[in-house]
Amino acid sequence: MKEHFSQVNAMKAAVVRGEVAEFRVAAELLATRQLSGDVASQWKVHLQTMQNAAGVGRDASDIEAASTALGGVGRACASCHRALGGPKVEVGTPPAEGSGVNLHMVRHQWAVDRMWEGLMGPSDEAWLKGSEALGDAPLRRSGIVKGKTVTEHIAVLAKETHALANRARTAPVDERGKHYGALLATCASCHAPLEVKIK
Ligand code: HEC
Ligand code: HEC
Repeated sequence: MKEHFSQVNAMKAAVVRGEVAEFRVAAELLATRQLSGDVASQWKVHLQTMQNAAGVGRDASDIEAASTALGGVGRACASCHRALGGPKVEVGTPPAEGSGVNLHMVRHQWAVDRMWEGLMGPSDEAWLKGSEALGDAPLRRSGIVKGKTVTEHIAVLAKETHALANRARTAPVDERGKHYGALLATCASCHAPLEVKIK
């Protein structure tokens, strides 16, 4: 199970970085991936559902479409895990709050990673803790880029990220994919205009 659909990690990273072309390549890989060895018949139907969901991402024309498709994949992972067993999710504790955009972003990344686990696990605890870690106060407009006042649009995105997480927290399990997708698209929509390069 080591290589258990690890292509999805590339899809997630591409969304946060705002790289649609990269996303499509990773979606194609997941959609067409062949499992080695015999695949039990009860696996096949779930596998097909998940690969169909990944297939939707092959045609994503923008980040919103990509993140929506990614949410659909997470939902499909969850439905197999619910039926056949899945990961044991250990939530841990979020990185400390602190001042500055970098620490703030490290917490964001931690939060969306937990929310992903909450979605695909599925794990209520991970979903809750992840969305709570995004419940912090948003960065102030002057604190987003050092020494520069960002546009009103960027300031709105900062607030939007936290508002989306607050709404996601109480969403029905079935709708987690949609909320996760919307949240991840917001990360990208701030990184792209600021030309943030994430390793
Ligand atoms: C066809 C069914 C099925 C699908 C689809 C599926 N999984 Fe799993 N997954 C399992 C089962 C069964 C286990 C637990 C058994 C095991 O760990 O060997 C598991 C375990 C895991 C684990 C814990 C073990 C490990 O390898 O680290 C992770 C993480 C995981 N799945 C992620 C995912 C993600 C992400 C997706 C969607 C992209 C996904 N799975 C789709 C059946 C599935
Ligand atoms: C309001 C704008 C904005 C939003 C929204 C935003 N980011 Fe960022 N992000 C930035 C800026 C600016 C940087 C660059 C920080 C620096 O290096 O000075 C950054 C950097 C990062 C980094 C790299 C951090 C480092 O130190 O290398 C990660 C990871 C990251 N963001 C994740 C996220 C995630 C995940 C989300 C969505 C939940 C998100 N960001 C939402 C503005 C934003």
